[in-house]
Amino acid sequence: MGRTFFLRGTRVSETSDVAVLTEDQARAELARLADAIARANTAYHTEDAPEISDAEYDALKRRNAEIEAAFPHLKRRDSPSDRVGAPVGETFAKVTHAVRMLSLANAFEDADVRDFDETVRRYLGLRDGDPVLKYTAEPKIDGLSLSLRYEGGRLIQAATRGDGETGENVTANALTIGDIPRDLDRAPDVLEVRGEVYMSHADFELLNTRQTEAGGKSFANPRNAAAGSLRQLDPGITRARPLRFFAYAWGEVSAPLGETQSGAIGRLKELGFQVNDLTETCAGPEEMLAHYARIEVQRATLGYDIDGVVYKVNDLDLQRRLGVRSTTPRWAIAHKFPAELAWTRLEKIEIQVGRTGALSPVARLAPVTVGGVVVSNATLHNEDYIAGRDANGDPIRGGKDIREGDWVQVYRAGDVIPKVADVDLSQRPDCATPYQFPQLCPECGSEAVREEGDAVRRCTGGIICPAQTVEKLKHFVGRAAFDIDGLGAKQVEMLYADETLPVREPADIFTLADRDRRNVSKLENRLGWGEKSANNLFEAIEEKRKIPLNRVIFALGIRHVGESAAALLAAHYTTWDAFEGAIAAAEVGAGPEWDDLIAIDGVGAVMAASLVTAFHQEAERASIDRLVAQLDVQDVAPRGNVDSPVAGKTVVFTGTLEKMTRAEAKARAEALGAKVSGSVSARTDLVVAGPGAGSKAKKAADLGVETIDEDTWLDLIGEA
Ligand code: IVH
Repeated sequence: MGRTFFLRGTRVSETSDVAVLTEDQARAELARLADAIARANTAYHTEDAPEISDAEYDALKRRNAEIEAAFPHLKRRDSPSDRVGAPVGETFAKVTHAVRMLSLANAFEDADVRDFDETVRRYLGLRDGDPVLKYTAEPKIDGLSLSLRYEGGRLIQAATRGDGETGENVTANALTIGDIPRDLDRAPDVLEVRGEVYMSHADFELLNTRQTEAGGKSFANPRNAAAGSLRQLDPGITRARPLRFFAYAWGEVSAPLGETQSGAIGRLKELGFQVNDLTETCAGPEEMLAHYARIEVQRATLGYDIDGVVYKVNDLDLQRRLGVRSTTPRWAIAHKFPAELAWTRLEKIEIQVGRTGALSPVARLAPVTVGGVVVSNATLHNEDYIAGRDANGDPIRGGKDIREGDWVQVYRAGDVIPKVADVDLSQRPDCATPYQFPQLCPECGSEAVREEGDAVRRCTGGIICPAQTVEKLKHFVGRAAFDIDGLGAKQVEMLYADETLPVREPADIFTLADRDRRNVSKLENRLGWGEKSANNLFEAIEEKRKIPLNRVIFALGIRHVGESAAALLAAHYTTWDAFEGAIAAAEVGAGPEWDDLIAIDGVGAVMAASLVTAFHQEAERASIDRLVAQLDVQDVAPRGNVDSPVAGKTVVFTGTLEKMTRAEAKARAEALGAKVSGSVSARTDLVVAGPGAGSKAKKAADLGVETIDEDTWLDLIGEA
């Protein structure tokens, strides 16, 4: 017998047995069930307001399946049995974080922790005699971070970290996690709670057993299992996976959670979140290190993975003063546990050629488990490392070289690529010979050279080297660059090798759909492709024609120009034309364009030279022009708050500042969009002079540059 439920006044399930239903009754009930299940899905997934319990929902689906089994010819084309959960796109919707999700700088040794404290104190202008600073110390959970946004006390959005600025909307999945409250009592009107989603060891074992029994793949470690489970398009699957959540931070809040880190975490606990009970407040680095040692001892018995201890300045006012760097706060650091080790046989040394032509030696290993993960590849860094010497020619590992056939020690720390650390000479086979590092590129045969002072040997083939070209393309479509859905490393390799629809340079990606249309040999007929996936790819490519300047600069894959450098350059030049014009006009080492380029905080001479050289290489330049002709490059706003009264101004600080240190003043000004310079010139907009200001204040007066004191400055930026 079924049960009867009412959903917004509609009767949705009959009490009668399926066997006694007439065909008309069955048809009518299937229609009602389809409607009820669709409504329940929408209420649950889209409106975040479920109206029936999980058990009731399951009963509806069961009843529907029973009737369909008895009357197969009545099964509806929109049958709920063919759908799981709410209709979802093929990927998650993107969410822009109201406050950036940061990552943490790392400390590996006790000395790094003492240095961290020292740097914080110096930044804040504290002196030797001043009291010790308080910090919280808590386990670093090895999971994935999640931001939960509550409005009016109700969870309205859950988002993964993504690149820190934009994450994925996983609200439906987060709602299946027991540790995540849906409603909060007496919470600030807007509250973003941040923390870590993780899986316990016991749940991980159970899940893997279940997966293996069902013929599915097992997960390498609890972190992967947690990530794989949270990022399921079907929340039904997430629900069946036992995920947990620890709260340890926050994003946007409409009212402060407390005056200290520990107070704010206490408040989150009162609101109903799980917070880690190994969190302690420590006075100064020695107490922090002692707590680290205690947590390290308990690590094995916690029942979940942690990979270090996180220290945070306790006073939230000081946290605010310390502020953030491009991706990490100045007020926190992660003290990582030592790497995990194992010994195994090095079977072969292979050379990979990267996007900048670097020849990177890779150790192919007999598979070995290192800290719960099976490792069969490890990096050997460069030819000196294999030979047993450092960049200065001094011996490392006591001068022992590494050979194919050697018994080697492998270690891994966190997510980084495993490394070969040591070699056991007593196990060396008699036939082992010293490794000869190739002098020619193994991919294109061009000469591979080492420049003075460079540890790396590089292929000189440039665009004629297929490995460099393919790696450049992979970088171009990567997550922090063009991030084109459906175009990953595998597809890039396939398209690079394609005879009729080749993609050999970035511009080719944007002409692909057009070439496909005009060609008899279509992408949809290639192995692994179909009409739908080909069209999806063309659409995904089309979407990325409009792209912010910083992504374009990063995507070019120019040596030394990483993601944060690209963002700095974009914020400085703001438009493609200004950027391109300046770099093309610049000459390495001299001239106004060069001076302007290296004056950007965070851009050094090496990076600048690499950028300018790339733009002066004819073939590379032509390829960039072909690409940009295909794009609609979006301007980028200058760094910092464009509404601030100092945005875009060049400011010089001089003399003694009394309310803040020089470093703090500079960081604050830059965060507000100002450029901070060390010397006064006609281009200076404002000089902030403290007591004892000498020649700079005089020069400012001579040049008629506005000069103000520290209090007026604080008033100007709204911090008085
Ligand atoms: S605080 C503003 N605390 O570690 C600081 N992070 O390596 C935000 N993590 O992205 C992070 N346990 O995913 C913080 N107790 C903890 C943590 C923690 C794990 C993760 C977090 C972060 C990553 C950085």
